[in-house]
Amino acid sequence: MCGIIGYSGPLEAETILLDGLSQLEYRGYDSAGIAFFDTASNIRLIKRTGKVAALREACDLEKAGSHCGIGHTRWATHGGVTDANAHPHRAGRVTLIHNGIIENYHDLTEKFGLEGRLASQTDSEVAAHVLDSFYNGDPKAAIKSLTQCVEGSYGFCIMFDDRPGEIYGVRRVSPLVAAYTRSGALIASDLTALIPYTRKYFVVPEDHIVKLTGYKIALYDINGNPVSPQIMEVNWNMDSAMKNGFPHFMLKEIHEQPEALKNTILPRISKGLPDFSDDGIDDSLFAECDRIHMVACGTAMYAGMVARALMEPVLRIPVTVTIASEFRYADPLIDQRTLVIIISQSGETIDTLAALRLAKSYGSKTLAIVNVKGSTIARESDFVLYTHAGPEIAVASTKAYSVQLAALYMIGCRMALVRGKFTDKEASSFLLGLLDAVPAMEAMIARKEEEKNLVTHLINQPDAFFMGRGLDYAFSLEGALKLKEISYIHAEACAAGELKHGTIALIASNVPVIAIATQEHVFAKMISNVREVKARGAFVILLTKENAVVDGGLADIHIRIPDIDDRFTVFPIAVILQLIAYYASLGKNLDVDQPRNLAKSVTVE
Ligand code: F6R
Repeated sequence: MCGIIGYSGPLEAETILLDGLSQLEYRGYDSAGIAFFDTASNIRLIKRTGKVAALREACDLEKAGSHCGIGHTRWATHGGVTDANAHPHRAGRVTLIHNGIIENYHDLTEKFGLEGRLASQTDSEVAAHVLDSFYNGDPKAAIKSLTQCVEGSYGFCIMFDDRPGEIYGVRRVSPLVAAYTRSGALIASDLTALIPYTRKYFVVPEDHIVKLTGYKIALYDINGNPVSPQIMEVNWNMDSAMKNGFPHFMLKEIHEQPEALKNTILPRISKGLPDFSDDGIDDSLFAECDRIHMVACGTAMYAGMVARALMEPVLRIPVTVTIASEFRYADPLIDQRTLVIIISQSGETIDTLAALRLAKSYGSKTLAIVNVKGSTIARESDFVLYTHAGPEIAVASTKAYSVQLAALYMIGCRMALVRGKFTDKEASSFLLGLLDAVPAMEAMIARKEEEKNLVTHLINQPDAFFMGRGLDYAFSLEGALKLKEISYIHAEACAAGELKHGTIALIASNVPVIAIATQEHVFAKMISNVREVKARGAFVILLTKENAVVDGGLADIHIRIPDIDDRFTVFPIAVILQLIAYYASLGKNLDVDQPRNLAKSVTVE
């Protein structure tokens, strides 16, 4: 959470910082601020509550002339949303921005006698004071001392009054990437802010110090010894981080799904079979395990739920899915013979990262499915399978979900092959089925007007229920999450067979029920559940395959997806569920891409 950008170089810093913050706004949007060395080499600070646009208005760009500065967009953790709590924070000769949480800020406040001296309620300002108390003209030594006394997670970018043109960065857990480009030196919390300038970058290693000046970037270990950065390259381009004519990133990202799916699947097919040799994943990983444990948060976890429902019956080994924030504080039943699959779009979600570290400490083999190249989870996992969705900017995940599913489906297929549960022919036909999902998704995207019309009823309701059986139940979980997070309609998913055990008490006249019925073997059961809610007055939106035979009058709205193999219906269904959420949010005049209280990349607990 919280977006960070720093720049030193020949160009106008204020403009670069503001543009970078706009690019990073999805990481947090309750306040924003910048600090920069002005033409007289004094540090100036401007911060505002609200979005980056409010900060931009407060900046007098005509009088700008700075070449070095730092900027921050905040997602509040410690302290409310106020100008004072916005970053950057100043203390003595130190100005800093921070992403993360300093857990021992209370102890530090006491130890450094800061009571009554703080201008804000933030843990970050405490860190600024602590750093200032260590500073005696040697930035690296002071930063080292700071890292020795703060506990928690942090990505700091720091300027010192007496070091014009210089920015220092240090991190633990929270991400920081940096690059030296033709336009100068840049540092940011995410790659998206660097893409306009370069595709080559490096990840600032934990407990290392990076120093940016207008003409170079230098990396040091915590003792101040120079270290060579490990340069990486990303194949994202500027277009992928822009709206390109779409009114919202979410709609654009929904449209990008068929392409993202192909990019994730096709390079991993060899002779008609799934092949992960280019990813460095050997079949022994799939052969030598007795169980699979998937760990993730939110949408990524729901992708795991779909994969579990698909894999377990085929592989005939236990496949478990656990919420990362639960897994990390449990004593999970995993060992050296467990394959732990970690799923994360950003590769930075703090609970998921902690879960990965825990799994490794139990000796389990870890395989990460990650979208952001070089992210912490990708680097720390034993194996990584990158999804190729390009940058996902909308806070509500769409294309990342589809490609996570595609990657998991391919892993399931390869495992089934390696473990003798699929013949070559079965594996090949499974892959062809997976590829059929691409035109099926395209068809649903082309018919998006249908969902636009169906939300008219939904947007006036306080609640909505999603239900399904088997794989359809797993899809419902994601449908409910998508709707609630961007439309603020309370939404709940229910395994249709569970209805009678409680949830049906909430079904009354006009309550919207989105019923998913694409699984042939439970279709009849599902339809009788739909009848039960209809009998209680529900407004039923029914999703089935094209060929499904359904009594007239059962559904208020009936959407049919192309007739594809039951195992792959999640892909066109996902498009419908995403569009329902999108149009519901739009219909309520809400901020589709930046819903309240949320932020992309949850890098604090
Ligand atoms: C919901 C959403 C979140 C993320 C979750 C995990 O639309 O985007 O639920 O899926 O925060 O994020 P990653 O995949 O980055 O670990």
